[in-house]
Order: sequence, then C-alpha cells, then structure tokens
Amino acid sequence: MNRLLDRLTQNGKFHPMWIVLAVTGVLIVASIVFIPARYEGSKEPKQKIAVADHAAAETLPEPDAGQHESKPEPAVIQTTHFTPPAERDMPTGEMGDMIKLGRNIFVHTQVYAKNLVGNGLNCVNCHLDAGRKADSAPLWGAYVMFPAYRSKNHKVNSFEDRLAGCFRFSLNGTPPAYNSKEMLALTSYSYWLATGAPTGKELAGRGYPKLDKPPRQPDAQRGAAVFEKNCAICHGADGLGTKVNAQYAFPPLWGKDSFNAGAGMHSVKNAAAFIKANMPLGKGNSLSVQEAWDVAQFVDSHDRPPDPRVKK
Ligand code: HEC
Ligand code: HEC
Repeated sequence: MNRLLDRLTQNGKFHPMWIVLAVTGVLIVASIVFIPARYEGSKEPKQKIAVADHAAAETLPEPDAGQHESKPEPAVIQTTHFTPPAERDMPTGEMGDMIKLGRNIFVHTQVYAKNLVGNGLNCVNCHLDAGRKADSAPLWGAYVMFPAYRSKNHKVNSFEDRLAGCFRFSLNGTPPAYNSKEMLALTSYSYWLATGAPTGKELAGRGYPKLDKPPRQPDAQRGAAVFEKNCAICHGADGLGTKVNAQYAFPPLWGKDSFNAGAGMHSVKNAAAFIKANMPLGKGNSLSVQEAWDVAQFVDSHDRPPDPRVKK
C-alpha cells in the first residue's frame, strides 16, 4: 500500500491508479446508500390488510398483527418489498418436481386435485398469476407469516391449516391430508416462492390492500349496474362463468360451482378489497371505492353452496 501511494504521488503526474481508487470509493458509498434502501423498502406506512369480522374461513390474522413489535427507533421501516423468484429459476431434481407439482395443483386444481374439489374453481382464480401477484393474497406473502394465531378458530394455525381452509371453503371441497403429497407440494411451491424473504415480517402486497369504507352503505342494486357494465362480459350476464372444454375460462361468481358461504370471498369486505385491486382482470383499481363495495355486495347476495360448518 505504501509503495502504491508512493508511486501515485511521486512523479506528480496523473496516474491511472487514481481512477481505480475513485471508482472504488464511489462504489462503496453507493452500496451504503442503496443496499439498505433496497432491502428495507420504501418509507410508506405499512399497508394493513382488510380483515372481515365475518364468519369467514379465510380472513387474515388480526388486523393489527405485527404492530406490537418493539420499535427501538421511530424511523424503523416496516414495509419490506419482495419479488419472488422467476418461473425459469425453478430448481430441477426431486425438489424441483415437488415445487412444480405444487404449482400445477395451484393453477390447475381441477386437474391435479380433482377429487379434493367440490366446485368449478382453481386456487389461481383468486390468487392471481399462479399465486405471485401482490395484492391478491400471494403465496409468498402468506408463507412467511405462519404459524400464526387466528382469532377465526382461536388457535395457532400451521401453514397447512391455512391451505386446508381454502380447500374447504373457497373450493367447497376436502382438504388434503397433512402428510399427503398434495400438501407437501403446495407447501414446497409456497416455500420456493418466498425464497429470500424474511420470516415473520409482513411483506408489501400481502393479502389485499386496505380498502377505505364506502362513502355510502354498499348497495346490491347499484352493484348490479356495476356488474353489467364491468364484469358480465367475462363472468357472464348470469355470473355463472364461461366454460371452454368443460373447464371455466372465466370462473363463476356464484351458483353451485362457486365458493361456498363460509369462504373468505363471501365476506363483502374481503370481496370488495379483492375486486378493487384486481378486477376487472387487467384493470385493477379502475373501479371507485363505492363501486367495488357495491358490486361485492351484489356478488355476495347470490345463492352459493352452504357453509359446511352450519348444520342443516
Ligand atoms: C374464491 C376465492 C379463493 C380461492 C379459489 C382460493 N382462495 Fe385462498 N384465499 C382467499 C381469500 C379471500 C383469502 C383471504 C385473503 C385476505 O383476507 O386478505 C385467502 C387466503 C389464502 C391464504 C393465506 C393468505 C395470507 O396472506 O395469509 C392461502 C395460503 C391460500 N388462500 C391458499 C389457497 C389455496 C392453496 C387455494 C386452492 C386450494 C386457494 N387459496 C383458493 C380466496 C380464495
Ligand atoms: C376481462 C375479463 C374479466 C372481467 C371484465 C372481470 N373478471 Fe373477474 N375474473 C376473471 C378471471 C379470468 C378470473 C380468474 C383469474 C385467474 O384464474 O387468473 C377472475 C376472477 C374473479 C373473482 C374470483 C374468482 C371467483 O370466481 O369468485 C372474482 C370475485 C371476480 N373475478 C369478480 C369480478 C368482478 C366483480 C368484476 C367486475 C367489476 C370482474 N370480475 C371483471 C376475468 C374477468
């Protein structure tokens, strides 16, 4: 090092080594400034998740979950941004096969877990982009938050418990056994999607974005008009979906092939939050807050399979 400094100063002329030193210095400063920013995310306030106090099966944990952490400094950044690994980076080998099976079950539930499903839906119908899309309850956002206590059933739930809930209510079906291949595959896929995410930290985009209360009481009649204008083209004028080759290309919003009355989507609050952020498909956040609540009220006012917990 001494010799290097000597050489740089000795002849009083510009030496190319200065460029190397300058570039190294800039890189060090840049890494100090940018790396924490990248990992800790923006300084926006933490997004809270809409939680219905409804007898719904798929509500997220307490709305204030995560707010009781001790906060040493007021400047602590609470929202962590996360991007799941790309599809093409899925591992190969036995583990890769298990992850891929999980993805197939999630996207083509009607094919890969037919015997466990009691309606016409696939997991992906509500967890968009193969469970990747932020703000549609992505799997990576969920995986790192379990086990968790849920006031819903007054116990600490495993991730398997959470998956089981969506089978029972959203798919109106039968949960796979906890030691089954299906359960292992879905867990493996979720685990892989969450690669590199911190555990126990709510990631930005988990669940649905908090939706403001509607200016006016939600109204199914106004919702019917919103539906006709914005939804019927895909979900059908009768809301019963549209089939192509015996499978739904556009899933039913009610009727015997839709989610049952115990499902999270049967809470108007959850449905409104999902719809606001994600529907019409490809045009999320184009409805007003009022329209989202009204159309959710309309959707949830229709007949569907009963809540399996309610005795006839
Ligand atoms: C009819 C729509 C629907 C379908 C179909 C559906 N889910 Fe869900 N799921 C929901 C709703 C609603 C929630 C609660 C989201 C919220 O409260 O923010 C949820 C929550 C979850 C969560 C927890 C999310 C979190 O962040 O805590 C997991 C995991 C999950 N679902 C997995 C599945 C799996 C696996 C399937 C297929 C077997 C499935 N879901 C099918 C609607 C659905
Ligand atoms: C461009 C077509 C299109 C439009 C328009 C559209 N949807 Fe959807 N919707 C879909 C598709 C496709 C899915 C399933 C997504 C998937 O599997 O990736 C879906 C899923 C849903 C789901 C969850 C699954 C289910 O069957 O319950 C709800 C609820 C929903 N849409 C409500 C609405 C509402 C309300 C509107 C109008 C505001 C609307 N959609 C407009 C295509 C559309």
